[in-house]
Amino acid sequence: MFAGVYSRRRVLITGNTGFKGSWLGVWLTQLGAEVCGVALPMPAPSHHELLQTEYLSKECDIRDYTALLKIFHEFQPEIVFHLAAQPLVRLSYRIPADTFSVNAGGTMNVLECCRHTASVRSAVVVTTDKCYENPENGLPFAESAPLGGYDPYSGSKAAAEMIVSSYRRSFFAPEGRILCASARAGNVIGGGDWAADRLIPDMVRAAAAGVSAKIRNPHSVRPWQHVLEPLSGYLWLGTKLLQRKSEFAEAWNFGPRHDDTMTVGEVAAQMHKCWEKMNFDIAPETVAPHEAALLRLDCSKAENKLGWHGVWNSSAAIERTALW
Ligand SMILES: NC(=O)c1ccc[n+]([C@@H]2O[C@H](COP(=O)([O-])OP(=O)(O)OC[C@H]3O[C@@H](n4cnc5c(N)ncnc54)[C@H](O)[C@@H]3O)[C@@H](O)[C@H]2O)c1
Repeated sequence: MFAGVYSRRRVLITGNTGFKGSWLGVWLTQLGAEVCGVALPMPAPSHHELLQTEYLSKECDIRDYTALLKIFHEFQPEIVFHLAAQPLVRLSYRIPADTFSVNAGGTMNVLECCRHTASVRSAVVVTTDKCYENPENGLPFAESAPLGGYDPYSGSKAAAEMIVSSYRRSFFAPEGRILCASARAGNVIGGGDWAADRLIPDMVRAAAAGVSAKIRNPHSVRPWQHVLEPLSGYLWLGTKLLQRKSEFAEAWNFGPRHDDTMTVGEVAAQMHKCWEKMNFDIAPETVAPHEAALLRLDCSKAENKLGWHGVWNSSAAIERTALW
């Protein structure tokens, strides 16, 4: 798998204790990589802890450039997967400054560390499908669509994309040492997510408390995918970069096929079908911060050029999540 490039490769993952990062860490160790993670102190419960994957994991705030650079220098990674972020839209309205400093400033620090660590050859920076200016007209975004962002989370990730683009052109030119790509994926579901304000964790928490989950935006459309799908995209991107294919040092969308989008209400209903304890009530909020109701991704570039496509459709992803 992945042309064997990760075997005995030194890989640094920021955000390795999070939902996506914990799966990426275990996947990379299974591929034979030597992994070092960088994250904040572990929350409880933690999927990373449950997995008991044996690899180096360092506590460090990516806003602390000096501490981060020390980790880079000690570990000497060849490739960096940058996932650490404040990833929640609603929380970003409550802590906008922190969201910008972690997601934009933190990304800049990670790229600075790449620049000042001679061993680094490739970097995959994980942003989001929310980095696009979203007129909510139903058209899917291709990678060439304008960046934007209504809420602080989306704006901070669009800023991270601008930082990547600037570093790529200023310091990581095609003939340079570092090939850097960014990855824009949609909403992911799967086991191991305990984040607040996310549909499936909210439903499981409500069921555990013996109540129905409150679904606030049942008609919102999102590109749902199982967490392993975009991770395979990140790993394929990393593969191409490690193979020194400079044409892959660009931005990439990863999401479900265009005919596989579901509303929040449909996902909740499907979850209930798979696991009948998962009950929910539709309870729209009267006063709520703005969240985009419609978001579609055009993933034809990843499908055609990277040969990547999702394996499980939304229904299969929900079933896998319920099984976990
Ligand atoms: N989960 C989704 O549906 C989704 C969708 C699109 C994009 N993303 C992006 O994927 C990435 C991972 O998301 P996730 O859902 O796994 O998030 P998560 O909240 O589960 O994990 C975040 C990780 O980042 C670390 N982190 C946060 N702030 C940090 C800081 N200041 N310094 C060091 N580490 C820090 C945390 O310790 C944790 O390991 C993020 O960049 C997010 O924006 C997620």
